[in-house]
Amino acid sequence: MKNKVIIVTGASGEIGSEITKVFANRGYCVVACYNKSKDQIDKLLVSLKGKNVLPFKADLRSEKDIKALVEFTLKTFNNIDVLINCAGAPLNKMVLDTSEAEVEDIFKTNVFGPIMLSKAVLPHMIEKREGVIINISSVLSKGASCEAVYSATKGALEAFTKSLALEYGSANIRVNAVSPGFIDTKMNSNLTQEEIEDIKKSTTLGRLGSPKDIAPICLFLASEEAEFITGQIIGVDGGGF
Ligand SMILES: NC(=O)c1ccc[n+]([C@@H]2O[C@H](COP(=O)([O-])OP(=O)(O)OC[C@H]3O[C@@H](n4cnc5c(N)ncnc54)[C@H](OP(=O)(O)O)[C@@H]3O)[C@@H](O)[C@H]2O)c1
Repeated sequence: MKNKVIIVTGASGEIGSEITKVFANRGYCVVACYNKSKDQIDKLLVSLKGKNVLPFKADLRSEKDIKALVEFTLKTFNNIDVLINCAGAPLNKMVLDTSEAEVEDIFKTNVFGPIMLSKAVLPHMIEKREGVIINISSVLSKGASCEAVYSATKGALEAFTKSLALEYGSANIRVNAVSPGFIDTKMNSNLTQEEIEDIKKSTTLGRLGSPKDIAPICLFLASEEAEFITGQIIGVDGGGF
């Protein structure tokens, strides 16, 4: 069987690197996208020596970089089966403390990037009448104090997920989102120990998640076993939200 090809954004981050590992170990050819963290992507490549993983630097706020990422993937592998939009930025601020530039910046990363990258891969997927797009959202899409703007970006991403699934289902493109709860990564390094304990208590399973809880769900959603699943927001949050 020909190896499948996947683009993973945010591959230099903790969740994205776990997703990259899981797909690479299943034999996928992975284009692992990073922006600033070259050191992290280099570490990931060392841990995946012998696997078919190629790094690509792109700032997903830039349409030019998005185009270059897709062109690179098609030129290298002549195919794109799966896109995982995992790159994302946090913003822990009250609305009144948030500047217009900060709002614009986070919407560019968390919403513009996934929309424009989906738009860039779609013509290829439509042509072969097959494709999977997975967006990494967040339980905070439902709203969260001190993270109103971040929550708004994830709410927008979930609405986009469902709408894109409706628009291109007839072309056999499946679009789903994975909505993690609190995952133990540096994105949450601003939380105090007390806040972490409160979050643990608020989940049915009594713990934070790990990137290892997220990656296998992405693998399943990309697989043939999930071929009747589209337009869904899959919560992976330990319950209780
Ligand atoms: N951690 C959690 O509790 C949690 C919960 C729910 C949802 N999520 C979502 O899960 C995803 C991954 O989070 P994480 O915890 O793994 O965070 P992380 O370790 O901070 O990783 C963030 C990733 O996004 C990339 N990124 C940020 N801005 C970018 C830009 N402008 N262009 C290209 N790449 C950009 C970063 O790349 P560089 O470092 O190379 O710049 C990095 O690879 C995010 O979408 C996040 O919102 C996380």
